[in-house]
Amino acid sequence: MMQKNGQDNMSDDKSIRVKVIEVTRWAPTLLSFKVTRPDGFKFTAGQFVRLGIHGKDLQYFAQNHDAKLITSETQGDEAQGHEAQGHEAQDKPIDLDGYVFRPYSVASSPYDEFIEFFSVVIPEGEFTSKVNHIQVGDSLLLNTTPFGYLTLARYQLPLPNDLWLLATGTGLAPFLSILKTIDVWQQYQRIILVYSARTSQELAYQAQISSIKSIYGDNGAAFVFLPIVTREADYAGEKARIPNLILSGKLTELVGQKLDKERSHVMLCGNPQMVEDTKEALKSIGLTMNRRGEGNIAVENYW
Ligand SMILES: Cc1cc2nc3c(=O)[nH]c(=O)nc-3n(C[C@H](O)[C@H](O)[C@H](O)COP(=O)(O)OP(=O)(O)OC[C@H]3O[C@@H](n4cnc5c(N)ncnc54)[C@H](O)[C@@H]3O)c2cc1C
Ligand SMILES: NC(=O)c1ccc[n+]([C@@H]2O[C@H](COP(=O)([O-])OP(=O)(O)OC[C@H]3O[C@@H](n4cnc5c(N)ncnc54)[C@H](OP(=O)(O)O)[C@@H]3O)[C@@H](O)[C@H]2O)c1
Repeated sequence: MMQKNGQDNMSDDKSIRVKVIEVTRWAPTLLSFKVTRPDGFKFTAGQFVRLGIHGKDLQYFAQNHDAKLITSETQGDEAQGHEAQGHEAQDKPIDLDGYVFRPYSVASSPYDEFIEFFSVVIPEGEFTSKVNHIQVGDSLLLNTTPFGYLTLARYQLPLPNDLWLLATGTGLAPFLSILKTIDVWQQYQRIILVYSARTSQELAYQAQISSIKSIYGDNGAAFVFLPIVTREADYAGEKARIPNLILSGKLTELVGQKLDKERSHVMLCGNPQMVEDTKEALKSIGLTMNRRGEGNIAVENYW
């Protein structure tokens, strides 16, 4: 049975094996990876899927004897190690025993031939302690039912004018996907991306964010990007948390645009306490939660 926030250790339907084709490491506890996109797999920018991982599908655990000592599931797995991956017959059901599933936002564009994910590493985390070791050629399970309503379609009123995308950490992922669609640049007049990380090393995707408008939104909405680094005393840019920037009025000053009940759509994604504090800050200046299409604020909590 699925637990809070879609976490569980089983997946009951539509799990397909996908292959890791690229891994990018941003920092010791932060990485992105691309996997093959199954034929016919569709999603809307902003949605998430459920990924399944098992040590036996990762070369690291199949080859590293020390690693086997710290993961009980790899014991006695030699016969079905990574060499076996990817060779299942198309019609053979996948044995899900021992797989750990977690929800992950898609960071890539719906137009891309691959699917990209952006992941934190929690050293003691059941899922990410394994993801930390993925390499090109490894495999994961992808549950091909996409979930979630952090999508542009949820907004009806107010009409699209300004889109504020406020993220902490890996909460950036769904916003990257949204920004990698042509629609968003055509629908809005202004798009503001605010992205808060603990350190400048953990501010991932900087080069991609710099070029995103010229690739997807040439001649489209005006774009403002505000990176925030909260735990580096000598960081030259903005260091305050997102809710504080809203309450002090500094956010609208830095961006040069008001947060406004009549014209702002605001999406929040990442740390649940940030989501909660930011919601309260936005409500205190008159914005409302989006319900049945109406209202300003839409959210996604990551844990
Ligand atoms: C809708 C949805 C979408 C998600 N999308 C992503 C995504 O794109 N990328 C991603 O890395 N995670 C994402 N997550 C979180 C992800 O599902 C797992 O929680 C995460 O992979 C950690 O799994 P774990 O088993 O290692 O540790 P867990 O036992 O799941 O988590 C342990 C603790 O780690 C912390 N934590 C969990 N996730 C994060 C995170 N992303 N950033 C910082 N701290 C965290 C929390 O304190 C949590 O209690 C998403 C969660 C939800 C509900
Ligand atoms: N990032 C690391 O160095 C590191 C290292 C090892 C393990 N981990 C694991 O990863 C998890 C944290 O990952 P993370 O750094 O990506 O996520 P995070 O703790 O959510 O921090 C990401 C950003 O969100 C900000 N933030 C946190 N709470 C907020 C709030 N209430 N309002 C506004 N902003 C808020 C942080 O600011 P503040 O800095 O002000 O909190 C930071 O800028 C931890 O649970 C830990 O187990 C992280």
